[in-house]
This record gives sequence, structure tokens and C-alpha cells, in this order.
Amino acid sequence: MSHCQCPRQEETLDLAPLDQYIDELKGKAGILILILQRAQELYGWLPRPLLQHIANRTGTPASEVLGVATFYSQFYLEKRGRHIVRQCDGTACHVRGSGGIIEAVETELGIRPGETTPDSKITYEVVYCLGSCGLSPVATVDGRFVGRLGSRDMISVLKDLP
Ligand code: FES
Repeated sequence: MSHCQCPRQEETLDLAPLDQYIDELKGKAGILILILQRAQELYGWLPRPLLQHIANRTGTPASEVLGVATFYSQFYLEKRGRHIVRQCDGTACHVRGSGGIIEAVETELGIRPGETTPDSKITYEVVYCLGSCGLSPVATVDGRFVGRLGSRDMISVLKDLP
């Protein structure tokens, strides 16, 4: 069975399901994005050794695999938390205090937007309009909208996450 060693995260990935998928697509054109999508579905993110493995298995230059993975924002090259929190800081949310919420969350979690807590519990992101300006200031927690919350409410939502 083939494995992918990801030393920084001290993680070993079972590559058998991905290899099987790559084999199914063999000979078809334009498969790289499909493979990267499946890899992310399987492992949650795309560590560098995994990208190298995909390059080897598909006969694609590693630079091309990395280029595609970095070009599309749907692909994550850093490990993600079990929970994804997205705070909006678009205009409507900003005028209603999202900046203060972001500062409070940064202090509480000890991370900056775009980072993941060291225990891999929460990935925290700042975005610029979630399309629900009427709920501002608004955030999503694992895709669920939480709106009209102050800093303290937001912190308690985060603390309640399992
Ligand atoms: S500006 Fe925040 S949801 Fe639109």
C-alpha cells in the first residue's frame, strides 16, 4: 500500500483510494483538476508530498501540479481545521463592527485570518461579503450563518464548538 509522509504535520495518508481514482481516469484528458478535487475530498487539504505523488502517478511535471493547485482558490495547501469560521468584513458588516469581532477572535484563538489553531480545531478566514448583508455583522460557522452578533457572542459560539 502506498503512503504519503507529511513530516510537518506528522501525518501519513493512505493513498490507495486516490490511486484507484487516478487509474480510473487514465488516458483521459484534463484530469488534473478532477484528481486534485478528489484528493482534497479524501484528505481535506493538499500537502506538498501529496502533490508530488499526483505528479508521479500522472506523469505531470510537479511544477504544473503545484501551479494548478495554487491557482484555484478551491484548493487548500495548508491544513484545515475541523471547523471553518468565515467572518465577513465587507462594507455592510464593517460599518456594523466586524473589525472589532475580528480583533476579538484573533486574540481569543491566537491566530490571524487564514490560519488554523494549533489543535486543528478552527480555521479562521475573513471574507468580503457573504451575500447576507441584512444579517450584518455576519459570519458562517461550518456553512451555518450566524448574524447580528457582537464580539462576545461570537467568542461564545467558537467556545461551544466541539
Ligand atoms: S458585507 Fe457582509 S454579508 Fe455582505
